[in-house]
Amino acid sequence: TDRLTILGIESSCDDTAAAVLRHEPGKPARILSSVVMGQEALHRDFGGVVPEIAARAHAVKLDGCVTDALSEADVSLTDIDAIAVTAGPGLIGGVLSGVMLAKGLSAGLGRPLVGVNHLAGHALTPRLTDGLAYPYLMLLVSGGHCQFLIVRGPDSFSRLGGTIDDAPGEAFDKTARLLALPQPGGPSVEKSARDGDPKRFAFPRPLLDRPGCDMSFSGLKTALLRQRDQLVAAEGGLRQADRADICAGFQAAICDVMTEKARRALDLYLTEAPAVPAFAIAGGVAANQAIRAGLETLCAERDVQFVAPPLRLCTDNAAMIAYAGLELFLAGHEDDMTLAARPRWPL
Ligand code: KG4
Ligand code: ZN
Repeated sequence: TDRLTILGIESSCDDTAAAVLRHEPGKPARILSSVVMGQEALHRDFGGVVPEIAARAHAVKLDGCVTDALSEADVSLTDIDAIAVTAGPGLIGGVLSGVMLAKGLSAGLGRPLVGVNHLAGHALTPRLTDGLAYPYLMLLVSGGHCQFLIVRGPDSFSRLGGTIDDAPGEAFDKTARLLALPQPGGPSVEKSARDGDPKRFAFPRPLLDRPGCDMSFSGLKTALLRQRDQLVAAEGGLRQADRADICAGFQAAICDVMTEKARRALDLYLTEAPAVPAFAIAGGVAANQAIRAGLETLCAERDVQFVAPPLRLCTDNAAMIAYAGLELFLAGHEDDMTLAARPRWPL
């Protein structure tokens, strides 16, 4: 194959993103540009992403986002050899906006269209950043997802387990809300936990006593609520130290569960005797230092390479969509104008 320039488009949640990726045979793919336009300010007052507001913002911003990505990459629309777009899973309004734009560009330019599963985008990122060889183990952990995957190819994944209710990021965000800490909750809970005593309050370790890699995080919220209300009743309010101790206890529970389930996932993966064993993490929660440290130690014990891509590529972006699109395209995948937006699309 020749040199390829791929445009990636992502609009499945609350980030409008476009990126340009360059592939040259025999070389690692290169990100020429990656533009992410967040919508945090639009949703802040609602305590969560409002689908209608997100859809409208994507429709308004996508055009300019693509224009910016092209100009940052210093390429013009006619230089684009293929268009990769997130076709799901996600909020239907946003996904539709992206898919419609991609179809228009594909038809107008006469260039191939590749529909990408958003989760595949996250799952293939360690190949883009670190050139990991298949098969590798992946923990995808964000505000919307939590699962262990063995990644075998751009269209081949084995799911080993995941959350049966809330995603951990969601749990961090709810915790912050219950303690009146700022959103997004992950960073503020992590910060508060730094000064806290993880042993002062006992939080449950859900599903730890059950075999397998499934996790549950919704029960933690109930335990936390009870703890908070007891403190408020006893002291008339929450002190900073109470908040810190609750955050530390909550984070320790999440870390314990994730590390133990990761141990099981890793052991399952290692039974396949991969040539170059590697464990990668992606998603917004991958920013958490305590969670990272637990997984890093685990990998060191098992002599497995631990990979955590840079945060801007761990969170939602379009470079990962362009990259997944590239791999799919090189493997012979191509979509036509019947490409549908799929709000639910398991890997
Ligand atoms: O991947 P992401 O940017 O968006 C999606 O959910 O798709 O992840 C955002 C989530 C939020 O729930 C946020 O609270 C969480 O990642 N997060 C963290 C940290 N930084 C972000 N959770 C725990 N610790 C952090 N340091
Ligand atoms: Zn995502």
